[in-house]
Amino acid sequence: AARDPKDLRSPICCILGHVDTGKTKILDNIRRTNVQDGEAGGITQQIGATYIPASAVESRTEELRKGRQFDLKLPGLLVIDTPGHESFSNLRSRGSGLCDIAILVVDLMHGLEQQTIESINLLKMRKTPFIIAMNKVDRLYKWNSVANSPIQDAMARQEEYVRKEFEDRLNQVMLQLNEQGLNVALYWKNRDPRSFINIVPTSAITGEGIPDLLQLVVKLTQSLMVDRLMFVNSLESTVLEVKQIEGLGTTIDVVLVNGMLREGDTIVVCGLGGPIVTTIRALLTPQPLREIRVKGQYVHHKELRAAMGVKIAAHNLESAVAGTQLYVAGPDDDVEDLKDAVMED
Ligand code: GTP
Ligand code: MG
Ligand code: NA
Repeated sequence: AARDPKDLRSPICCILGHVDTGKTKILDNIRRTNVQDGEAGGITQQIGATYIPASAVESRTEELRKGRQFDLKLPGLLVIDTPGHESFSNLRSRGSGLCDIAILVVDLMHGLEQQTIESINLLKMRKTPFIIAMNKVDRLYKWNSVANSPIQDAMARQEEYVRKEFEDRLNQVMLQLNEQGLNVALYWKNRDPRSFINIVPTSAITGEGIPDLLQLVVKLTQSLMVDRLMFVNSLESTVLEVKQIEGLGTTIDVVLVNGMLREGDTIVVCGLGGPIVTTIRALLTPQPLREIRVKGQYVHHKELRAAMGVKIAAHNLESAVAGTQLYVAGPDDDVEDLKDAVMED
């Protein structure tokens, strides 16, 4: 049957990597925000979620496309930020478990580190396709920066010795990746994206390569993952955080992976003292290009379609447990069955 591209949901893209490789900064560059500056000790300690609408991808990739049309079939991207600090392996596992595709961020100056390898193993285990962002190219000695430019244009502008240092460092990291059993290639030299993992050199500070990274995530998902991205109307949704919000009371932040949520829905959530059955009083999202874990202005919705990072306000959520599934009790569902199901997580 012919497929309607309108039935594609937004892919969920998880950012993984060792601490301080620049995961949050890459997102800040895409969002034009300063989330990382506000983090305690500059360390991410929660899973984040940001919706990037197709229009933002389109405008950030304009220079890269040089007038060519972008046949964008996706409504947008839902990006999940994860902590790289070693003590948060549960959150990396949770984040990677939610995603369709991942960006593994590697610091070009440091190469593979402990949590890079941990992340690679998570991605291998779940067979998640991923792209490698070789970040901090602006730290190459005498890097000549033109903000936000496509990476090949940026490379062409560099002095010979800068390109040489880049290639030496890249080759070293590529060898380390080979040692992990990964076949990798710079994305513009990659003739076979099913067999070779794409590398995109980036700078989160000056923005070179960010257009390339965005374009690649969209291209790979909408060309190779169509089956997986077909919208289906069965709910798949995970609780990320339980939070007190002034004026809203206790809320839960959830990632809506598939299906829909509506204001007034009866939801069943795992609680510390047993299952919680409650009603969605407010269904909220941050503004597009804003991080759900940062306090901001929320947009109210009557209903929401996957994929999306969603904040739910409802009574009795105080003891809800992060990392568990959320269910909606439909007219044909037995609430008792759902109560059993949520407590199995
Ligand atoms: P965790 O979430 O704590 O694991 O760290 P992270 O991977 O999100 O890295 P973060 O965005 O916190 O950046 C760590 C530090 O590296 C900050 O001081 C950033 O300013 C710096 N940084 C990140 N990306 C770049 C880059 O591309 N170039 C340069 N020069 N510095 C960068
Ligand atoms: Mg971070
Ligand atoms: Na950090």
